[in-house]
Amino acid sequence: MTKKRVLSGIRATGRLHLGNYLGAVKGMLALQENPEYETFYMVADLHTLTTPYEPKNLRQDIREVILDYLAAGLDPEKSTIFVQSRVPEHVELAYLFSTAVSIARMQHLPTYKDKVKQYPQHNTMALLYYPVLMAADILIYKADAVPVGVDQEPHLEVTREIARKVNSEFGTDFPEPKRFETEGGYVPSLTGEGKMAKTVYGSSIFLTDSLEEIKQKLSKTPTDSGKGEVVPEKGGVAALLALVELFEGKDKRKKYEERYLREGIRYSELKEGLAGAIYKEIEPIQRRRKTFEDNPTLVDKILKEGAERARKVARVVLDETKKAMGLI
Ligand code: TRP
Repeated sequence: MTKKRVLSGIRATGRLHLGNYLGAVKGMLALQENPEYETFYMVADLHTLTTPYEPKNLRQDIREVILDYLAAGLDPEKSTIFVQSRVPEHVELAYLFSTAVSIARMQHLPTYKDKVKQYPQHNTMALLYYPVLMAADILIYKADAVPVGVDQEPHLEVTREIARKVNSEFGTDFPEPKRFETEGGYVPSLTGEGKMAKTVYGSSIFLTDSLEEIKQKLSKTPTDSGKGEVVPEKGGVAALLALVELFEGKDKRKKYEERYLREGIRYSELKEGLAGAIYKEIEPIQRRRKTFEDNPTLVDKILKEGAERARKVARVVLDETKKAMGLI
């Protein structure tokens, strides 16, 4: 039986936070351990160039994501782990795919509009092109399953549209990939507004944070008197309860909710328990990270071999597509 393929990636924005971990990395791990799948995991460094960034920091930011991947348990014996720009076939396929998408379709994507709003000075071709490159990342491996957060659904929709269009115009056989859902697909920001995001100050807990840092960050999450007639569905309290559910389970959340409606929650206690539960989950990851940090030659070797393996597969699909389009 031929295995189904999986591809996923995270932009090279430096160290990973709990949102990346629960939303993407946990799904990546589950699929890596499933013998029905062949898994390809990358750092999307080219996508990092679509918003303002610091060239002198990028190399290190790429490295931080790779270290977090390896620390979290992505295993080069089981998965092909690589850096996107080292498999230049992605860009070539993206160009071919760009012939099958309209500018208007790209301009109307909510993800594009949000970024333009956030960075009005950087409304670039690369930003508009983002979903096309992402489609190429996925389809160059003919991947069926993509473990990513729910916010990436519009991009997957574009990927499926491109697959359909290219298949019908040129007779290729690209699959229509689906998002592989993980339980913690949505991790709220510690500020109580929106999701955990690296770019929002005070929003994130990183996989490398110490217990003290976690406590410090949670102490800043806004709360209320602890008591009321309805449990808040928005803001800091809602964020804390969501984190309790993710790290301490549904029952614990229920207990706090009941307490909110009756005698009241003592947030210092909630935050203390939550900090401990989060740290317990990431502490083994931190220990593993240290072994890779201390062995940069091993990490270089993993990336070199990963890119070689990825290129072998990518080359075949790229040539197939070029042939179908009449280029070779
Ligand atoms: N857009 C994804 C994100 O921001 C990153 C990404 C780039 C990706 N290429 C991909 C994810 C291909 C999955 C598959 O999270």
